[in-house]
Amino acid sequence: MPLVTSKAMFEKAYAGKYAVGAFNVNNMEIIQGIVEAAKEEKSPLILQVSAGARKYAKHIYLIKLVEAALEDSDLPICLHLDHGEDFDICKACVDGGFSSVMIDGSKYSFEENIALTKKVVDYAHSKGVVVEAELGRLAGVEDAVKVNSADATYTDPDQAVEFVEKTGVDSLAIAIGTSHGAYKFKGKPELDFARLEKISSMLPNFPLVLHGASTVLPEFVAKCNEFGGNIAGAQGVPEEMLLQAGQLGVCKINIDTDLRLAMTASIREHLANHPADFDPRQYLKPAREAIKNMVKHKIRNVLNSSNRL
Ligand code: G3H
Ligand code: 13P
Ligand code: ZN
Repeated sequence: MPLVTSKAMFEKAYAGKYAVGAFNVNNMEIIQGIVEAAKEEKSPLILQVSAGARKYAKHIYLIKLVEAALEDSDLPICLHLDHGEDFDICKACVDGGFSSVMIDGSKYSFEENIALTKKVVDYAHSKGVVVEAELGRLAGVEDAVKVNSADATYTDPDQAVEFVEKTGVDSLAIAIGTSHGAYKFKGKPELDFARLEKISSMLPNFPLVLHGASTVLPEFVAKCNEFGGNIAGAQGVPEEMLLQAGQLGVCKINIDTDLRLAMTASIREHLANHPADFDPRQYLKPAREAIKNMVKHKIRNVLNSSNRL
């Protein structure tokens, strides 16, 4: 099975009012855990690679691991660049075998974001690759991007329409109150659903993307803390809010923090309970299983994407 773009996935998700999970990958165990879950759930799947992941694992290793996953699983998988910060990284991923790229021009002015996104769209489309862009700014930390909550701005619906028209982009990440990382809300979680509804109604049949959409599962935070971690005050997006977003035109839901927490909780628990173990397979095997179970839970309860192939 070759890589696929997200085009057909998003069309089905939009019509079926569910979302496709986009999971960040950095190594073999993470890829295997996610892919096994999607295969068992018969779910569409996007694997995404950040600039940091490319730096950590190298483009060639990630591509080859995803090729192995395609061959081994026979699943249609979309391979996506997450938060491409300039034309060059998008071009490298288009030329290097990805089927989808994100150009994140959200830190630029509206006009500069349009110009940069359009340049990436023109190049990517000429090679059959789809493009996601971002309008509005999420708070939180990414490898290359750090945004204070004061600098975060929600997406303007009129601008969203103009942006999509002028760039020809295939999907758009919007800011409605989510943020990257494990600390998303200080008090009660709140997302601006009125804004999402407005954007969605002004861009009918157009796939929207929600970044910063980990739920920060309390069981993993508790396990990390129980076995020597120090993750205080972590809070994610409630599951029911993500299900609601899936009904309102959000076709792609980005999840990284929950993978990190599931893996780290499992490794911490294993090493605390088996202090004599030092073979990495002894703790990476349960960590891979923890990822698989967590992703299956997401597919069933948050994305609603089981049996959608
Ligand atoms: O949105 C960012 C993702 O969580 C990727 O994080 O840049 O540290 O790999 P990273
Ligand atoms: P989380 O930090 O909520 O997992 O978001 C990940 C993300 O948006 C990757 O682009
Ligand atoms: Zn993101």
